[in-house]
Amino acid sequence: MQLKHCFFALVAASISSASDICGTPTPTEEQVWRAVSLQAQDLNAQDRDISLVNKTAIEINVLQDAFKPHNITFKLGRGDVSVEPKWSDNCMERQMKQRLQKGTYADMNVYFFPSMACANSEQLPHNRLLGYVTDFPDDKTANTKRQILDAVHVRADTVPGGKFENFDMGMTLVHEVGHWLGLFHTFQGGCYGYGDGVSDTPYEDDTTADYYSGTCNRRRDSCTTPGLDPVENYMDYSAE
Ligand SMILES: *[C@@H]1O[C@H](CO)[C@@H](O)[C@H](O)[C@H]1NC(C)=O
Ligand SMILES: *[C@@H]1O[C@H](CO)[C@@H](O)[C@H](O)[C@H]1NC(C)=O
Repeated sequence: MQLKHCFFALVAASISSASDICGTPTPTEEQVWRAVSLQAQDLNAQDRDISLVNKTAIEINVLQDAFKPHNITFKLGRGDVSVEPKWSDNCMERQMKQRLQKGTYADMNVYFFPSMACANSEQLPHNRLLGYVTDFPDDKTANTKRQILDAVHVRADTVPGGKFENFDMGMTLVHEVGHWLGLFHTFQGGCYGYGDGVSDTPYEDDTTADYYSGTCNRRRDSCTTPGLDPVENYMDYSAE
């Protein structure tokens, strides 16, 4: 399977600034919320933009490597860097995408932001968010009304070499692209029922992640069904 194109956009503010801790309101159970502490970035703007471009190139390799065993590859479309402070916290999603969005539902648009104070046009009051997708594949089909919004949103400092402690090896993008392709969390639905819908994923009651210490318990077994919790599955929230 080769996706038609994968477009990348980096959105930056012209000045560096520390941002606030935000909350994780979980707007739908299918979208991804990961909240952790964060160190402020203090690179000067020019260096940051150049190194972000380089780090994003490495991030794309991480994405390709993660999906290659499943015969899914991504054909890189093009990348844009936008230095636009008013877009940089993801709170003007629609306006930004009217300018930057490319292709159709067959193409994957990925946006990297210095911070995400909003998601799906809603303000996040507390924790920090690492990433989310606007829609699952099922929501797309015949309805192209939201095509302009269809995208993967990721914190720029989660790419390899980024400053997001415990989530700095690029797996946030891998996790979010999993959602974009239709995968749920490993702990979807807890110990019973449909679970994540993948027959060989052991059931898991809730996420194994301990966001603040960055540890995860490899021997955790939260459900009586067979198998330890799948802490090494990209669709869990385990620290990297
Ligand atoms: C980015 O990559 C280019 C080419 O690979 C390299 O010359 C440049 O020094 C890198 N810049 C930064 C800031 O890492
Ligand atoms: C990927 O493709 C190769 C070559 O066609 C095949 O042998 C392999 O089984 C495929 N892997 C998966 C996970 O489908």
